[in-house]
Amino acid sequence: MNKSSDAQRMEKIVSLCKRRGFIFQSSEIYGGLNGCWDYGPLGVELKRNLKDYWWRVMVHERDDVVGMDGSILMNRAVWKASGHEDTFTDPMVDCRSCKARLRADQLVEKKGIKQCPNCGGKDLTAPRAFNLMFKTFIGATEDESSLTYLRPETAQAIFVQFKNVLEVSRKKLPFGIAQIGKAFRNEINPRNFTFRSREFEQMELEYFCRAEEGMRWLDYWKEERLKFYENIGIARDNLHALTVPDEERAFYSKGTYDIEYDFPFGRQELEGVAYRTDYDLSQHQKASGKSLEYFDEETKQKFIPHVVEPSAGVDRTVLALICEAYCEDEAPDEKGKMETRIVLRFHPRISPIKCAVFPLLKNKEPLVAKAKEIVALLRPHMYVFYDETGAIGRRYRRQDEIGTPFGVTVDFETLGEKDLALRDTVTLRDRDSMKQERVPVKDLPSILVSRIS
Ligand code: GAP
Repeated sequence: MNKSSDAQRMEKIVSLCKRRGFIFQSSEIYGGLNGCWDYGPLGVELKRNLKDYWWRVMVHERDDVVGMDGSILMNRAVWKASGHEDTFTDPMVDCRSCKARLRADQLVEKKGIKQCPNCGGKDLTAPRAFNLMFKTFIGATEDESSLTYLRPETAQAIFVQFKNVLEVSRKKLPFGIAQIGKAFRNEINPRNFTFRSREFEQMELEYFCRAEEGMRWLDYWKEERLKFYENIGIARDNLHALTVPDEERAFYSKGTYDIEYDFPFGRQELEGVAYRTDYDLSQHQKASGKSLEYFDEETKQKFIPHVVEPSAGVDRTVLALICEAYCEDEAPDEKGKMETRIVLRFHPRISPIKCAVFPLLKNKEPLVAKAKEIVALLRPHMYVFYDETGAIGRRYRRQDEIGTPFGVTVDFETLGEKDLALRDTVTLRDRDSMKQERVPVKDLPSILVSRIS
């Protein structure tokens, strides 16, 4: 695709997100709040399905990982020890012509001269470090003694609770602690829809291991994470594992991969998989004076474990899922004339709604009653949507546009009015192939569960 069609595609995606209730601008009626977004009825389902699947794969299906849920506000000492207070900065530049505040790495360069991307102005200030953490105050006084920050990553709660979790879970190395939660960064230039936000969610695993095994676990987790993205429906061809060069890695990291996705606005990071050595635990041990060592019962040695961290963004992955799923194809309307169909081809396991149930006609009581019976049959197993309004083709189209993978239609055959052999059967329509199969109502839960899990 060329640049303008990529931009058009992105515009269509943003507009669909608003029109169908995936993502809204935060505080929209007051003119919005830059870098903040709200998830609507479908967006919240998509996000939950993503987080649930991550938790299932990273925690429930493994013996070597446990979860935790840390607080967003932590003692300021945490951010001093982790290095965030001094070094969690982006270089910022002001354009003296249009007064824009810019990240130094977002300037455009023409003939070797840096320019403002907004107005083309060349009168720019020298870069200065801007700390990305949001400050806040705990309690009634607002001074240095009550200052702390909204967490800019979830990881630090895991490091400072390492000893508690180790004791209660009785895990042996290698083992991991997983967490999903909000993080906040006062980004200089939030952009590309939800891609770079000021409030976002992370899904992080800190996988503790012995120093000599760090590089092996780094490669292991890179592969596991690539598999994860494929399993939620992102094509391998659109994913890239970039080896972060030495000069761009954090000084304490011995190796980092960025997992990138081909968004319509370019190839961008979805997740970082970093081998952080023993840096974080050592820093907290030093600053707190509390031992964060691991005792190896076999060798009787005490040491600070090393850690490999796959750290993914929930919002970026949701955006990648929507971009990947967005598709326009052709489908016949009620009169058989071909029309453009917008379809979100989500993997069924992450689709917000799994199945829509339609009575063929809304004014035929037995059809409506049967359809509602099927809704009740399916509800304990999945999120189901009932729709009786409009022509059946329109109803299919509305579900295609939000990515519902299956549609069940209750017709006169279901009631046994035409052919007794078809009594208590329904048509099951597949969103992608648009093919319909006739299946017994009693088999619907098991058929659908096997296709969405
Ligand atoms: N604990 C490591 C860490 O936080 P990071 O690369 O700064 O590493 C990890 O962040 C992931 O969090 C990123 O790959 C991205 O998916 C997500 N993320 C970071 N900043 C973000 C932002 N401003 N908006 C949305 N997602 C963000």
